[in-house]
Amino acid sequence: MVNTDKAVEVINQYIDIPGGLLECLHGIQSVFGFVPKETIDDIADGFNISRAEVHGVISYYHDFKTSPRGKKVVRICQAEACQSMGSRDLTRRVEEILGVKIDETRVDGAVSLETVYCFGNCALSPNVEIDGKLHARVTSDNFEKLVKGEEA
Ligand code: FES
Repeated sequence: MVNTDKAVEVINQYIDIPGGLLECLHGIQSVFGFVPKETIDDIADGFNISRAEVHGVISYYHDFKTSPRGKKVVRICQAEACQSMGSRDLTRRVEEILGVKIDETRVDGAVSLETVYCFGNCALSPNVEIDGKLHARVTSDNFEKLVKGEEA
């Protein structure tokens, strides 16, 4: 059950700030770990915009999540430089290892696998982030060690 009072507190911090909607959404995501659908009406009312506009902003920015993330979050870059260095094949292998498809969370909630479009570390492609820590030149062979917390 989502405590919408907490969401309203966050919304009220940003409604008078120009461009406050993005800050508000980040704030809500930091409180709940994602942007719960139960908060959409309050966000729309607070910023005097339609629910569709709120949904539009959330879906436009890849960083906003609309469902709880897994305990472990693995993010794989799919932008050009990483793709040219094998990120697509790496992603298929990571899906097998983790037992979850890209941009999904495993049913047991243990892990989310997410797409990122460039970490800004293109020279060391392909790049994978595991629980906030960026790993460069990741291969299928060393990914398994990395995800277990061992250095590869
Ligand atoms: S393309 Fe992957 S880090 Fe830039």
